[in-house]
Amino acid sequence: MKQITIRKPDDFHVHLRDGYLLAETVAASARCFGRVLVMPNLQPPILNAVQAKLYKERIQTANPCNHNFKPLMTLYLTDSTTIQQLDEAKISGVVACKLYPAGATTNSQEAVNHIGQLYPLFEHMQKIGLLLLVHGEVTESQVDIFDRESVFIEKYLQSIVSNFPKLKIVFEHITTRDAVQFVLDSPETIAATITVQHLQYNRNDLFMGGLKPHNYCLPILKRSVHQQALRDAVSTGTSKFFLGTDSAPHEKHRKESSCGCAGCYSAWSAIEIYAQIFEELGCLDKFERFASENGAHFYGLPLNEETITLIKQPWQIPSMISLATGQELVPFMAGETIQWKLS
Ligand code: DOR
Ligand code: ZN
Repeated sequence: MKQITIRKPDDFHVHLRDGYLLAETVAASARCFGRVLVMPNLQPPILNAVQAKLYKERIQTANPCNHNFKPLMTLYLTDSTTIQQLDEAKISGVVACKLYPAGATTNSQEAVNHIGQLYPLFEHMQKIGLLLLVHGEVTESQVDIFDRESVFIEKYLQSIVSNFPKLKIVFEHITTRDAVQFVLDSPETIAATITVQHLQYNRNDLFMGGLKPHNYCLPILKRSVHQQALRDAVSTGTSKFFLGTDSAPHEKHRKESSCGCAGCYSAWSAIEIYAQIFEELGCLDKFERFASENGAHFYGLPLNEETITLIKQPWQIPSMISLATGQELVPFMAGETIQWKLS
């Protein structure tokens, strides 16, 4: 196949950041995505409707083009989030709340320490129709980093799912065979996003030939059997799995450091790499559903009317992105040649 045209896709998990970075991140996502679900883990985090509204305005101001590009906003749950904050968020158009176990990832220190104590909030979200987005990893230091997702399922997620049968839950950026199976075995109210890095790579790609800080993200890359389970999951075309890049820029010096930040900045090439993977898997016919339909259906949103076209034309991902403000970002798969290009 030489080219493929699909309904315009949505990215249901992205970190656009704030301030000087918005010009960069919004341009990268708006080039191909219709809607993006914006993660709230800023410093300070997005805790209420007013903050979400102001953040949305800053994103819209940064949009460089006339594309129909729509940010969908989320709230960051903490131990002190209130029912009133949920109500105000829902009224203002916020679509979901993100549950980060405190300390699980970037800017999650102020998030949730006692998941069980959030049950009244989950009850209310279920009632008013706010989705729950879950970073599904336990944070106990004695739990091996490669097991944190599967332990989270047993310790927390099973119970949340069974206690709130009408709450729509997105298990974000799943990385294991256990998570794939859990989502498939769960009711229709549970779905999952899958990133491009977890389809493309496994944990060897963190260490082969030397430490690769730009492949470090959370949840961390897993064994190849888990990567294969994710690839199998998308190739079946099941409606429970959809696109969420988790594109998450950190400045080069913060990645290449003695204590490097977690996150892959994939926005400039994610849609192209997903296409390449679907082609490798022999299931390009399932690509549009994964990228442009399953997520919209799950969120209860209309499908985008526009289309995008990808052409089979090898190109090299730049080794570096230098911002006008002087900062440097290393994109995901920097310097690698990939086969599909956005036309
Ligand atoms: O790798 C990650 N980076 N995982 C997350 O959960 C957060 C993200 C970020 O914000 O940098
Ligand atoms: Zn994320």
